[in-house]
Amino acid sequence: MANDAAPQVIRREDYRPPAFLIEQVELGFVLEPSATRVTSRLHLRRNPEAGTPDAPLVLDGQALTLDGIALDGREIAADAYAVDDESLTVAAMPDTGVLEVRTTIDPKANTALEGLYLSNGVFCTQCEAEGFRRITYFPDRPDVMTRYTVRIEADKAACPVMLSNGNPIDRGELGGGRHFAVWQDPHPKPCYLFALVAGDLGVVRDGFTTRSGRKVDLRIYTEHDKVDQCDHAMVSLKKSMKWDEDVFGLEYDLDIFMIVAVSDFNMGAMENKGLNIFNTKYILAKPETATDADYQGIERVVAHEYFHNWTGDRVTCRDWFQLTLKEGLTVFRDQQFSGDMNDAAVQRITDVRRLRSAQFPEDAGPLAHPIRPDSYIEINNFYTTTVYEKGAEVIRMIHTLIGPKNFRRGMDLYFERFDNQAVTCEDFVKAMEDASGRDLGQFRRWYAQAGTPRIEARGRHDETGRRYTLTLRQTCPPTPGQPEKEPFHLPVALGLLDPAGQPVPLRLEGENTEGATSRVLDLTELEQTFVFENVPSAPVPSLLRGFSAPAILDAGYRDAELRHLLAHDTDPFARWEAGQTLALHVMLALIADAQAGRPLALSPGVIEAFGEVLDDQAVAPAFKAQMLALPAQSYLGEQMAVIDPDAVLAVHRFVRKALADALRPHFRTLYDAMTGEARAFSVDADAIGRRSLALTALGYLSAGGNEDGMVLVLDLLAKRATMTEVIAALAILSETERPERTEAFEAFHAKWRHDALVTDKWFGLQAMAQVSDSVERTEALLRHPDYVATNPNRVRSVLGAFAAGNPTGFHREDGKGYALVGREIRELDGMNPQVAARMTQSFGRWRRYDAGRQERMQAELRAILAKPGLSRDVREIAQKSLEG
Ligand code: TRP
Ligand code: ZN
Repeated sequence: MANDAAPQVIRREDYRPPAFLIEQVELGFVLEPSATRVTSRLHLRRNPEAGTPDAPLVLDGQALTLDGIALDGREIAADAYAVDDESLTVAAMPDTGVLEVRTTIDPKANTALEGLYLSNGVFCTQCEAEGFRRITYFPDRPDVMTRYTVRIEADKAACPVMLSNGNPIDRGELGGGRHFAVWQDPHPKPCYLFALVAGDLGVVRDGFTTRSGRKVDLRIYTEHDKVDQCDHAMVSLKKSMKWDEDVFGLEYDLDIFMIVAVSDFNMGAMENKGLNIFNTKYILAKPETATDADYQGIERVVAHEYFHNWTGDRVTCRDWFQLTLKEGLTVFRDQQFSGDMNDAAVQRITDVRRLRSAQFPEDAGPLAHPIRPDSYIEINNFYTTTVYEKGAEVIRMIHTLIGPKNFRRGMDLYFERFDNQAVTCEDFVKAMEDASGRDLGQFRRWYAQAGTPRIEARGRHDETGRRYTLTLRQTCPPTPGQPEKEPFHLPVALGLLDPAGQPVPLRLEGENTEGATSRVLDLTELEQTFVFENVPSAPVPSLLRGFSAPAILDAGYRDAELRHLLAHDTDPFARWEAGQTLALHVMLALIADAQAGRPLALSPGVIEAFGEVLDDQAVAPAFKAQMLALPAQSYLGEQMAVIDPDAVLAVHRFVRKALADALRPHFRTLYDAMTGEARAFSVDADAIGRRSLALTALGYLSAGGNEDGMVLVLDLLAKRATMTEVIAALAILSETERPERTEAFEAFHAKWRHDALVTDKWFGLQAMAQVSDSVERTEALLRHPDYVATNPNRVRSVLGAFAAGNPTGFHREDGKGYALVGREIRELDGMNPQVAARMTQSFGRWRRYDAGRQERMQAELRAILAKPGLSRDVREIAQKSLEG
C-alpha cells in the first residue's frame, strides 16, 4: 500500500482470463491475535481458455509471512518460487497440482480493517475488494470462483463462536483449552466473498421457510450486551427474503443465513456468502437509542446485502470494472424494496436527494468517472456514489424503458444464462435486450460516459391548430478524459396539465394511440421535437416524472407554472420537484441580494404558495414533510457559479425564519396535530411520517431562536421523547448560544457514553453545528477522551460530519477548517488508508470556490501529497483532485 513509486494504473481493456483455475480450496486457520497461522491448499488446474500454456502461477499476497510451500505433498525448494511485496510466483507449475501454502498474519496490528482483523476482540474479515490477499496467497480476482472448506481452530474461552461461509460440517475439542470447527460452502465463489468470524458473541435466532419449503436457520451475532438490539434487523431480513421471492422469484439457497455485527468496519456491510458482516450501525436498534433514520437504514442495508445473494454472489463480476453490475443492480433492488415497505413517493424523493447531493457533485468534479470506469489505481476508491447510486438510476432507466414485465423476464434470463459465473455489464444489458426485444445500443453509453446530462425543454402552444410542440435538447459537460459526449438515450416521462389543472390525454402526432395522461418519450438525439395533438389550451408540462433519468432539467418554468404544478400535478415526485424548483429560484435570488448587501425579503406570493402546502389536508405526513423541506445548503451551493457557503447559510436561515414568522399559527397547529395524542412507540411508516412532519414544523417554529419554539424544543428534551426527537432538538440547540445547549449536551453524553452508536451521534451533532467557532469546537472533539481514531464510525462522526456536513466551518475563510481536516487525513493515512481516502474527497471540489479558498484547498492537497509513505488510496484521490 505504501509506495512512493509511480502508482500502477489498472485498465479495463487489459483484462485477460486467469492462467489457472481452482477446483477447490481447503483453508486452515489457527487463530492467535498477533500470529494467526493460515494453511491453504489450492487444487489448481491450468485454464485452457487463457491461451497461456507456459505461464507461471502468480498468486497475490500482501503483508504475509511465508512459512512454507509444498506441491503435491512435497516441500518445494526456495529457488523454485519467488516472493515479493505483492505476489508469489511458482515458475514451473504443472498443469494440475495441489499447492499448499503456509503463512502467518497479524490480525491485531491490522488497523486498515482489510483482510483478517480484530474488532473489540472479535476476529473478523473484510475481503472485498482485494483483502483476501492479506490472508493468504491466492488469485485475488473475482473471476476465479471455487468451493471452500474452512477449518478454524481457536481458544475456546476467547472464541466460543467460530463461523465461516456455507454449512457447519464438523466441530470438536482439542487439547489445551482449544477447539475447532469446519465449514463447507457448496456454492463456488470468488475470494472476495470469503468470510470468517470468531469470538465471544451472543446470537439471536429465527427461521424462514422459503416458498419451495426450505427451512432456513437465521442468526444474527453480536456482542452479548447487544443481543436485545437485533429484532428490527431480523424482521427486515425476513421481509427481504419474502420480497425477493415475491418480486423476483429468487429464493435463498443454503440452510443457514448468518449476520455478524462488528464495531469496526470501513463501510456499511458486506454480502459474504451465507455470512454477511455488518457495521453495528446497520444492525443495532432499540427504541431508546435508534432514530427513525437508523431504523430505515437498517431495513435498507439488511435488504441490500441479502439481495446480493443473487445479484453479486450467485452471479458475480468478471473484474472490478464491472462493479456496478452488482452494486447498481442491488441498490436498485433495495430502493424498490424500501419503496414497497414504506411510502414509494417519499422513498423516491429521498433517493433523488441523495443522488443530487453526492453523485451530481462527484460527476461534475475532478473525480468524475463512468459507472463502469476505464481505469483505476486503487479499486477501493471506486466504491463511489456514481457506481452505486447512478448505477441504480441506469438500471431504473432500463426498467422504465422496457417495463416491469420485460424487466423481470430479463432478470430471469440473466440468471438462466449466468448462474455461478463471473460476468460483465454487457452480459446484463444483453439479457435485458434479448428478453424485451428492445434495442439498447445507444443506451449502453450510460456505462461509458461520465457527467450529468442536461435536458432543456421548451414548449409552444398553437391555439388554432390545438397542438402543443415540445422541443427537448440534451447536452453533457466535459469530464476528465472525456471532452466530447455522444447523445444519451434518455427516457423522459411526462404529462401535460391544462389550465384547470386537469391531466391532458396525450396523443403524439402520427400515433393513433390515445388516452394515457402520462408516458415516456425517448430522447435519443441532441434535439427532438414532439407534437401533441388535440390540446385545446396552453398546458403546463410535467417533465421527468418520477425522475425518469438522472439529468438536470431546465424547463424554463416561470414561477406561475411551478405553482400550477405544485397545486395540481398528479405525479408526486414532479409535484415535490415543482416546490423545490420554486424554492430554489427564490433562494438563489436572495443569495444574490445577500451578496450585494441588499435587504432580504420574501414575496407574499411565495409565502402564500408555501402556506397552501402547509394547510393541505390531502397529503400524507411523510410526503408533506418532504414538501416543506427547503433545498439542502449543498444543493443550493451547487447551483451557484462560485459557491458562497456563508451566503447560502444566511439565506437558508432567513427563509426559514421569514416563513415561520408569516405562518406561525399554521406551523403550530400542524405541530400540535402531529404530536397531540399519545401513541405507543412504533416505527411503522405512519408513525415515522408523523414524527418527521412534527420535527419539520419544529424546525420552522424555532427558527432564529424564537422563544416559543425554543420552549417546545426544551420540552422535548425534558420529557421521555424518542431518539429521533431528541436528536432533532439537540440539532436545533446546537446552533444557539443558549446555556441549555451545554447542559443538554453534557447530560446526553453522561447518559449515553457507554453506547458507541449513540455517542457517534453526539459527536456528529457538534461537528455539524454551524456556529462561528465550529473549527475550535471540532478540534476539541478530536481531543475528547472518547474520540477513537482507529474506529471508522467515530472518525466519520467527527471528521466526516465536519467536512461534509458543516459547510461554513469546513470552508471557513481563514482556512483553519481545511487545515484541521488535512492534518487528520495525514494522521489517519498510516492507520486506515481507505477511510483517509474518503475524507480526502472533501477537497475535490476546490474549483467551485473563490480564489482564496481555492488556493488554501489546493495547498492542503499538496501538503497531503507531500507526506512520506502516503497510501495509494489517498494519493490517487489527492492527485486527481489537483489535476482534474
Ligand atoms: N459490497 C459491499 C456492499 O455494497 C461494499 C463493501 C463493504 C466494501 N465493505 C467494503 C467495499 C470494503 C470495499 C471495501 O454491500
Ligand atoms: Zn452492495
